[in-house]
Amino acid sequence: MIQRPWQRSPEDRDIRAELEAGLMAEHAAISPKYLYDPLGSKLFEAICLLPEYYPTRTEAAIFAQHADDIAAVVGTGVTLIDLGAGNCAKAARLFPILKPRQYVPIDISADFLREAVAGLRQAFPGIPMHEVAMDFSAALDLPATVQRDRRLFFYPGSSLGNFDAQQALAFLRRMRHALQIGEAGGILLGLDLVKDADVLDAAYDDELGVTAAFNLNLLNHVNRLLGADFNTRDWRHAGFYNAARQRVEMHLEARRDLVVHWDDGCRAFSRGERIHTENSYKFRQQDILDLLEQAGFGEVRMWCDAQRWFAVCHARVRANV
Ligand code: AVJ
Repeated sequence: MIQRPWQRSPEDRDIRAELEAGLMAEHAAISPKYLYDPLGSKLFEAICLLPEYYPTRTEAAIFAQHADDIAAVVGTGVTLIDLGAGNCAKAARLFPILKPRQYVPIDISADFLREAVAGLRQAFPGIPMHEVAMDFSAALDLPATVQRDRRLFFYPGSSLGNFDAQQALAFLRRMRHALQIGEAGGILLGLDLVKDADVLDAAYDDELGVTAAFNLNLLNHVNRLLGADFNTRDWRHAGFYNAARQRVEMHLEARRDLVVHWDDGCRAFSRGERIHTENSYKFRQQDILDLLEQAGFGEVRMWCDAQRWFAVCHARVRANV
């Protein structure tokens, strides 16, 4: 469907402005949140099943192994706010131990989220669920229907690593504010730890090319959002660990000189030029403790796997901030 400029909502205009600014920048960049359209969310599910992509199963193993301890620390009857819920599978596995009094899954991929929650309601009819389709990266404005007491922000999968250090700190502080309006709450995070480059390189550039498809699909999503004419065949996936910056980077690299057009603009790319599509920061345990301390959290508990590849952390709002 072609969108006329006068039919655009303010949100559409914000999205267009953000995408255009990224494409026109000297070093072109598109936010990783645009990886998640209906197909992108499915491709991410497939990534989680890849032998090379260790984070999802390592995190699940930590939750399984330390379930009792985690349940004792978090307590039951929380308002479980699931950031970037996707298919909601990670939170659903916590339902039996946390017995949430309300489940609030939030995701930018609206249709995908709606379908997942519909299935979940059938499986857990006793848990009130209130899904929210929104981009929480810029602001964490929760609807009034979200209960205020004993909120638990669940942010697994190392998605916090998509932010740089400044943004991550700001985002954690926004969570703290949203927790302070009610009775003591907390956060439950999954964070990927620094490890050998070989392991990281393989996890973000898998043999089957699923991660490549996930990255390239972003261009089709941008075509729809911006009315652009990206041809995915003109681009190649690059995913690798940048040890100096302690992050995995994903880029899309032009295979030839080309020009991309959209409704009211264009950008020339020369062969080899890249669009930066994702950073996935990796943490040392001390980085996590420092970040949480700076953001105003305390009573930090951390659980890891035996290889120390991944960490699950719980923290509470520090009173005297
Ligand atoms: C869901 C953002 C945490 O960075 O590992 C997977 C996304 N990107 N493969 C990650 C992703 C490439 C994932 N996060």
